[in-house]
Amino acid sequence: MTQKKITIIGGSGGMGKVFGRYFKRHGFEVTIYARNKERLKAVATEVGVYYEFSLEKSVKQADIVMVTIPIKSTPDMIKKIGPYLKENALIFDITSIKKAVFEALEDLKNTFPVNCISLHPMFGPGIKDMKNYVIIVLKIGGTDKYDVIINNLLDMFRSDGLIITETSPDIHDKRVALTLGVPHMLNILFLNLLKNANEPLNELTKYTGTTFLLQKVFAESIIQREMEMFGEIQMENQQFLTILEMFEKLLKKYRKSIENKDMKGFNEIFSQGLDYSKEDNHFENSYKYFYEFMKILKGK
Ligand SMILES: NC(=O)c1ccc[n+]([C@@H]2O[C@H](COP(=O)([O-])OP(=O)(O)OC[C@H]3O[C@@H](n4cnc5c(N)ncnc54)[C@H](OP(=O)(O)O)[C@@H]3O)[C@@H](O)[C@H]2O)c1
Repeated sequence: MTQKKITIIGGSGGMGKVFGRYFKRHGFEVTIYARNKERLKAVATEVGVYYEFSLEKSVKQADIVMVTIPIKSTPDMIKKIGPYLKENALIFDITSIKKAVFEALEDLKNTFPVNCISLHPMFGPGIKDMKNYVIIVLKIGGTDKYDVIINNLLDMFRSDGLIITETSPDIHDKRVALTLGVPHMLNILFLNLLKNANEPLNELTKYTGTTFLLQKVFAESIIQREMEMFGEIQMENQQFLTILEMFEKLLKKYRKSIENKDMKGFNEIFSQGLDYSKEDNHFENSYKYFYEFMKILKGK
């Protein structure tokens, strides 16, 4: 890499720590910035990086600026730091929704001589090794040095085994509405449905062999994570409401087939799901994987 100094705005957060460690390991001089000074200092000590209380100073010194703060606050932050960025600096965010951030970064590169890219790592703060995980990339543009500067960063990711998926904001937001928003929603609703049925989970567990146990553990692992971020992923994504409407229609159709004991209607919905999933790479061995997960849960 030709750039060596990176400032991470939101560096005291979960993803800030992951990337602070990552860039430090790659020889960068890492500085973190966030508003809560005590937490900022504590994380800087824990990760072994510098900290800076002044947003302006932290940005002015950096060759690369990473913004890793909540989705809603990111476009304003990008606007705010524009005037502090060094000429030819590279700036990127890692938000889970792209439309508004992409527009803010486009405005930025049209106003200042800087380079902009938008990333979405498809992993959370619990990651240990990034190999074979996906990082989604949206190229935005910048100065005549753009290609060299962003390729340095992307080559570094590739050298660690990260899989790069390049896309546009609309496609990104539609697809993550399905790959993040939908599984989050279904698992939140699953636990709420059980709660509303007024049955303690431990009791239900006595009535299960496989499917429920796996589903329950999956839902429990989701419900313990960051509530606000999960809310933002669904609320800030304009395309999620369309998915919700589709879901409501589907649920009505499903209910009708059950109410009317309409096996033909039920079969139609079932077969559509089956045909769709046949195209997937995991389809053939899915039952095998299922029992591999079960072995872990049953301690065998
Ligand atoms: N967590 C995930 O699984 C995951 C995965 C992929 C992408 N992302 C994206 O990564 C970003 C950060 O997520 P996270 O889970 O790391 O969040 P987090 O743990 O809540 O950390 C947020 C960080 O941003 C700082 N911050 C919050 N509001 C700020 C503001 N207005 N100005 C300056 N700093 C601010 C916080 O510190 P102070 O409050 O002290 O300022 C903290 O350092 C989000 O955009 C999210 O969509 C998260």
